[in-house]
Amino acid sequence: MSDLTAVVLAAGLGKRMKSQLPKVLHPVAGRPLVHYPIAAALQVGAIRAVVVVGRGRQQVEAYLQKAFGDRVSFATQEPQLGTGHAVLQALPSLPADASRILIVYGDTPLLVVSDLDRLCEAARGSADAPLAMLTCDVSSPQGYGRILRGSDGKVIGIREDRDLRSDAERALTEVNPGMYCVKASFLREAVARLKADNAQGEYYLTDLVAMAVAAGGVIDVPGSPSNLVGVNDRCQLAQAEELMQARIIERMRLGGATVGSGAVIDDTVEAEPDARIESNVVLRGATRIGESAHIDAGCVITDSHIGPGAWLKPYSIVTSSRVGAKAQIGPFAHLRPDSDIGEEAHVGNFVETKKTTMHRGSKANHLAYLGDGEIGEGANIGAGTIFCNYDGFQKHKTTIGKGAFIGSDSQLVAPVVVGDNAYVGTGSTITKDVPQDALAIGRARQENKEGYAARLRGKLAAAKAAAKAADKK
Ligand code: UD1
Ligand code: CA
Repeated sequence: MSDLTAVVLAAGLGKRMKSQLPKVLHPVAGRPLVHYPIAAALQVGAIRAVVVVGRGRQQVEAYLQKAFGDRVSFATQEPQLGTGHAVLQALPSLPADASRILIVYGDTPLLVVSDLDRLCEAARGSADAPLAMLTCDVSSPQGYGRILRGSDGKVIGIREDRDLRSDAERALTEVNPGMYCVKASFLREAVARLKADNAQGEYYLTDLVAMAVAAGGVIDVPGSPSNLVGVNDRCQLAQAEELMQARIIERMRLGGATVGSGAVIDDTVEAEPDARIESNVVLRGATRIGESAHIDAGCVITDSHIGPGAWLKPYSIVTSSRVGAKAQIGPFAHLRPDSDIGEEAHVGNFVETKKTTMHRGSKANHLAYLGDGEIGEGANIGAGTIFCNYDGFQKHKTTIGKGAFIGSDSQLVAPVVVGDNAYVGTGSTITKDVPQDALAIGRARQENKEGYAARLRGKLAAAKAAAKAADKK
């Protein structure tokens, strides 16, 4: 339906979060919580979303502009006088030819897209009723607006929690999740007529429901209670996170990935079929796990691509990097930003890489720091190797040719180049380039003094005995 425009309310103060950050920017599964209602509205066919902003609006606008581009525009509400007043601020931004307006609140990240879709379908299906709304049945209705029905069972209005008039009203378990699809013509004239004569002295959007009853009727569509999970404080934020995690992990499992217990996965992450994500793995940001890759327990991967068949052994940390097909990483490896690990390369325990490319089949299996480097195909980096990349002012590059062998406990003082198939002897400090096929040794030459140890022991024992004898005197 191309004539649908969304209005998303996100101007509230969010006082109960007790935070410098605007409430709607608090993350749930790696995205600000306002992202979800907007994405859902666009997904069900809204051409554009007008977001009503207030508190921290520069920050909110900056994020949304980046995430949704010209599919969002903004209306400012200052001061915040209630949800009805918020919609009033959005009216001038609605396209003149908009026929229906989908209104959602910005603090309900768990809204269910298929319910929103049914809501819009139902609105479209009725020529007369100016308003369609979702309703939810719950066991604890406290805090929500209650749906009031007449003796014929039809919706006659919504009573806000703080304005409930009787125990009978308090006992109502049918509540308002805050998702409406409203005819634009009705919305424009009805919102202007709202009054703030209630417990909070606010302009309630929910008063529109009784007005719509008088103007032709209300269509109510029952929806899932998940729609209700609103975030007003950090306990509810934690609850939203937990429910969102369950949703994401279910989506991944149904998509063919195995996901162990305790995994924490951002909404932005993708996993291909047969990926194996073990317990307590954390996957963040723009991370993609390739087909049949195995991410073992406790790994933390941020903004990285893991190639098909790669194996990340337990407790490896990968940030803004790429791991090629069938590469093996860890356990306890640390790939810092701009590490590019080639196909079938190995990075072993306690190896740290940063801005380093390891070409296909190269290996650094134990205890190394490889910063600002390039390591050729099939090269072998011995245990304890360090690329000395920093002179206190600038970073310099270490280049290791293909097939080269760097003996254990070597330091390569950058900038330096080790040629193809060259050898660096164990324990070397390399400060000059090594030609291809050469052997470089940069350490003191070993000298053996025959019998010296025995003579030394005799000398030391005699000295100790003499000192003891002197003491006794
Ligand atoms: C609202 C509904 C209630 C419903 C509940 C569902 C009203 C009057 N009440 O109550 O029936 O059961 O949501 O979660 O609508 N906002 C603005 N400007 C304002 C006030 C609020 O933009 O002046 C935004 C907030 O940022 C928030 C949303 O509107 O995203 C809802 O506001 P909130 O104050 O949280 O309403 P509830 O008390 O939860
Ligand atoms: Ca709320």
